[in-house]
Amino acid sequence: MRHCLRLVGLLGLLASNGPATGEETGSAIFRGTQASDRAATIAGVPQAGLRCSGCHGRDASGTVAGSATIPPVDGRRLREPALARPAYDAALFARALRDGLRSNGRPLALAMPRYAFDDAQLDVLWRFLSQIETDERRGVEAGRVRFAVAARPGNREEAEALRLSLERAWGALGSPDVNGRRAEFVSILADPSSGAFDDVFAVLGSEPGTAFGTELLDALVAQGIPVVGPAHLPSRDRERLPDVVWLTPGESAVADFISRNADALREGGDRAERRAASARDLAAILALPQADLADTSLIVSIFAVETPSDLQRLAEAPAETLLVRPASPFTSRDDLADLLARIVRDGLAESGRDLTRTRFLKAVARATFGMRSPSAGGGDGPTSSTDVDVIRLRPAGR
Ligand code: HEC
Repeated sequence: MRHCLRLVGLLGLLASNGPATGEETGSAIFRGTQASDRAATIAGVPQAGLRCSGCHGRDASGTVAGSATIPPVDGRRLREPALARPAYDAALFARALRDGLRSNGRPLALAMPRYAFDDAQLDVLWRFLSQIETDERRGVEAGRVRFAVAARPGNREEAEALRLSLERAWGALGSPDVNGRRAEFVSILADPSSGAFDDVFAVLGSEPGTAFGTELLDALVAQGIPVVGPAHLPSRDRERLPDVVWLTPGESAVADFISRNADALREGGDRAERRAASARDLAAILALPQADLADTSLIVSIFAVETPSDLQRLAEAPAETLLVRPASPFTSRDDLADLLARIVRDGLAESGRDLTRTRFLKAVARATFGMRSPSAGGGDGPTSSTDVDVIRLRPAGR
């Protein structure tokens, strides 16, 4: 494992990582990527974290949980009459969510939460479910499937370079026709809500060494566009953005590095040492009086830092602070492109002929779950290295 010590300005790290502002999309409500799930109650008791997609499936096609089946709620099937009920329309759908009544007026089982949505939210949700089957197949045509690299103003050349690398890497795999489709790679510089991504199946990658930008990520996810391979973000964001597949070494690599290198990291041998591996540890340390941190080395995993204000307080602490995070896991753009091309090939193959975004995400999540570090041996599977950056924050006033 290479260990590089870098001094990095705080600016980039302090950038806001809150949810995107602007109108809530149906995808964001259905998949719980914004805060609407707080409006849910079961038997009158507020319930947090109840995403529609968690019960009805990301593609609204219904799920089986043990002996219980949870019905499909895509618009096509809701609009059709079923054995147990007449067809839904927008008004009956709204009543089902607010009052828990089926289209025939009978109560729905308690397992289906009641939601205090306003009219606008119910409207976007109904429209979203009405076109979910189309959205699931965006960018898919008879002979091809289209992937995009998303450019931000200022990184257009880099995005185009990654696109070219992807084409080269795809060619190196023999430009396979997977289930009768070839992959096409485009780069797009536009706001995801502008419709410019309407003909894109999924977004690939970010540049090695650059943060993808949570704002862009938020905007893509709000449009229901899967993203494979952005650079690392705090764990809180990863949980919030379930449609994003990360390709970085995670907490365990950083925790392992800290436990093996803590002695070497401390500057003065006589300093007391405190380590924070989780947000809880960090909260406990930051609650200490300032005096207790003087002549202390704080060794903090970036995964413990949940908010910009955590970082601010660390920077103001009278302790020597070492912030440990995964370095960009890819040594070069070509490495990233090689990995992405293999993920695309395997993900498409495993998704089968009826290719949807949800099937692809599932297949890719399975494929990347067992990512090995190169030292763990060769093979054709995806690999990533586990380099670690150490950022030294000087104690305040020195
Ligand atoms: C905790 C799991 C759960 C969550 C979360 C959930 N549902 Fe349900 N939903 C169910 C179950 C179970 C049923 C079937 C109830 C019954 O048949 O009595 C159901 C039924 C429905 C129905 C009626 C379907 C029909 O054929 O009559 C609609 C519409 C619906 N859900 C939409 C949603 C939407 C939209 C959300 C998110 C805002 C959501 N559900 C969140 C479990 C859930």
